[in-house]
Amino acid sequence: MLTLSEINNKVKEYFAAETFTGIPRQLYEPIDYTLAQGGKRIRPAMLLAATQMFGGDLETARYAAIGIETFHNFTLLHDDLMDQSPMRRGKPTVYRKWDENTAILSGDAMNILAWRYFLRTPHHNLHRILQTFEKTSMEICEGQQYDMNFETQNDVTIEEYMEMIRLKTAVMLGGALKIGALYADAPDNDIELLYDFGIKIGLAFQLRDDLLDVYGDTATFGKQTCTDIRDNKKTFLLLSAIKKASQQQKERLQNLFAVSPNDTTAKVNEVIDIYNALNIRHDVEKAINNLHNEALSKLGLISQPESDKAPLYELTKQLLNRQI
Ligand code: IPE
Ligand code: IPE
Ligand code: MG
Ligand code: MG
Ligand code: MG
Repeated sequence: MLTLSEINNKVKEYFAAETFTGIPRQLYEPIDYTLAQGGKRIRPAMLLAATQMFGGDLETARYAAIGIETFHNFTLLHDDLMDQSPMRRGKPTVYRKWDENTAILSGDAMNILAWRYFLRTPHHNLHRILQTFEKTSMEICEGQQYDMNFETQNDVTIEEYMEMIRLKTAVMLGGALKIGALYADAPDNDIELLYDFGIKIGLAFQLRDDLLDVYGDTATFGKQTCTDIRDNKKTFLLLSAIKKASQQQKERLQNLFAVSPNDTTAKVNEVIDIYNALNIRHDVEKAINNLHNEALSKLGLISQPESDKAPLYELTKQLLNRQI
């Protein structure tokens, strides 16, 4: 049994063995640039942890782990263009370092590369694995579309927001776990529990991402902060604030989030003042805690010995208070 940090080392080792350069170099250089940055690589770690938990051979899942992370990075290239984000992992985003067309096309190529990796290892569950990957991919597009629709929609409910983040973020964590479990022939009932665990962890992960967008430290988080406020994103912070606000604060927030993204310093300061006055940070942390507890209860129900679940317990613990 590998520990979480040993699994993380495996992921590192797997990536180190791959080369992403090629010609035309304008297509491949941004891919290499992005994948060389690393990032937390939680999705391949989750995939491998799931394979291991059900007694599977990690090598059979090796290229799926690389594939899911390549796919995740593809979504980031397009997401950064859509969100006009200048920085990721402390470095310029691809559309900033090169240009918009580069982010589109190198992103497309990474999506294809992900499928190529998935196809590399024959497996009797490969059809189900690819179906899971396909469904996950399409759901992420749906989630990203809702995320954009919500920028100009002023009556978004918390329920609609939770469904949006389930699609844009959580299904990839659930999908990674399910795929990993399929490589190990896990029983269907356990696969379902594991998927649900991934969804809960994923929802909490996005709430934390929303929180760090406002309260994170750019040097640690690696992304420019407060871009969600600038972009009028309907985040968990904003929706919780609107729910809790006085009539006056509510109208102020709605007016602030109705202006098109422009010079934002004054807007950002005012929004943060309202969040602070309402102690929104506490509410988000509470919601994250609740989701983590729900996730843990799903993990607890899986029929494998608790000791085999250790890497996923460890990951859950690390994600709860992540600053990155
Ligand atoms: C960023 O994902 C996109 C979200 C779903 C919030 P990560 O926070 O996993 O990004 P990296 O890969 O570690 O940089
Ligand atoms: C990202 O959500 C979801 C996907 C990339 C699919 P965000 O837009 O909040 O992620 P960051 O903050 O840019 O990493
Ligand atoms: Mg973004
Ligand atoms: Mg986005
Ligand atoms: Mg974000």
